[in-house]
Amino acid sequence: MTVSAHQDLSTILEKGQADIESAQTSRELEAVRVALLGKQGSVTTQLKQIGSLPAEERSAFGAAVNRIRSELTSALEARGLAIQAEEAEAAIAAQRVDVTLPGRGRRTGALHPITRTLRRIEKIFSRAGFDIAHGPEIEDDFHNFEALNIPKNHPARAMHDTFYVSPSTVLRTHTSPVQIRYLETHQPPLQVIAPGRVYRCDSDVTHTPMFHQVEGLAVDKDVSFADLKGVLIFFLQEFFERDLPVRFRPSFFPFTEPSAEVDMGCVFCEGEGCRICGHTGWLEVLGCGMVHPAVFDQVGIDNEAYTGYAFGLGIERLAMLRYGVNDLRTFFENEIRFLEQFA
Ligand code: FA5
Ligand code: MG
Repeated sequence: MTVSAHQDLSTILEKGQADIESAQTSRELEAVRVALLGKQGSVTTQLKQIGSLPAEERSAFGAAVNRIRSELTSALEARGLAIQAEEAEAAIAAQRVDVTLPGRGRRTGALHPITRTLRRIEKIFSRAGFDIAHGPEIEDDFHNFEALNIPKNHPARAMHDTFYVSPSTVLRTHTSPVQIRYLETHQPPLQVIAPGRVYRCDSDVTHTPMFHQVEGLAVDKDVSFADLKGVLIFFLQEFFERDLPVRFRPSFFPFTEPSAEVDMGCVFCEGEGCRICGHTGWLEVLGCGMVHPAVFDQVGIDNEAYTGYAFGLGIERLAMLRYGVNDLRTFFENEIRFLEQFA
């Protein structure tokens, strides 16, 4: 082997080793590998020369090139492993979470005050032996009006500020149509409440266009107005957990006879009279009465054998009095600071 060829090889080896050591990333190391062992690499170039050497030099030169090739290959492998470890550690360091940083605080949601009130009401009536029924919010004229003894052109329709979906379909204006639906499918004796949303074109401090009612209906032999009064007084005492003045005031509904409305003493002015109670000292919370015989006729119940009472509670009004909320509309404005107070 010529001296110069030998020197070339040791230069390639030294330079190769130095380049391998100074490579800092897998990418840089790969570039070094290509420069040494790639198709045009310096070691590869030496290997290609073997064929052109005099026969007696070939084997010694070949052995020398192969030795540096294997030395450089192991050096590349060793450096590659080292770089991989460094890079893995750097990646972990970059993802490190500082567990000592102050937390972000998680806000817990809560049920809407109206939902809570509805559930409380359902519980109280369940304890008193009432079943729970539901009816559609989009209701036909027959169930919302006709079957409740409110024929077309009856002045009572005007009281309802109805949202019409079509001439014969409405957003139900009260939960009373569920009385009819329930009586169509059940035989007395029965005791049921029907909670749900109702709609009227109406808005001020004690009225919203969408609100909730809980209908009540009991039908049996010998049900009397005294039973109705007893159930409602029991309910109001359980619901408010304190003594508020209650009054039964004679009223009119086409589907009950006799009829009454129940007012509670206004909690905002203690009965003195204020804007919220319309300066009367009282807030109307429900309508009620004895089921009208004409309603029993509509659903084929013998009105000689059976009597019944019915009532319709205004849920927002009850919630308003219980929580001291002086504007009913605030329940539906989705102001989180308002709603959070009930969590
Ligand atoms: C009725 O809706 C009758 N269906 C109640 C009834 C049922 C009577 C069964 C007899 C037998 P009224 O329109 O008065 O009645 O409404 C009942 C209650 O709903 C009211 O006492 C009041 O508490 C509440 N209410 C009425 N309109 C609104 C409104 N726009 N926003 C909030 N609450 C209302
Ligand atoms: Mg009323």
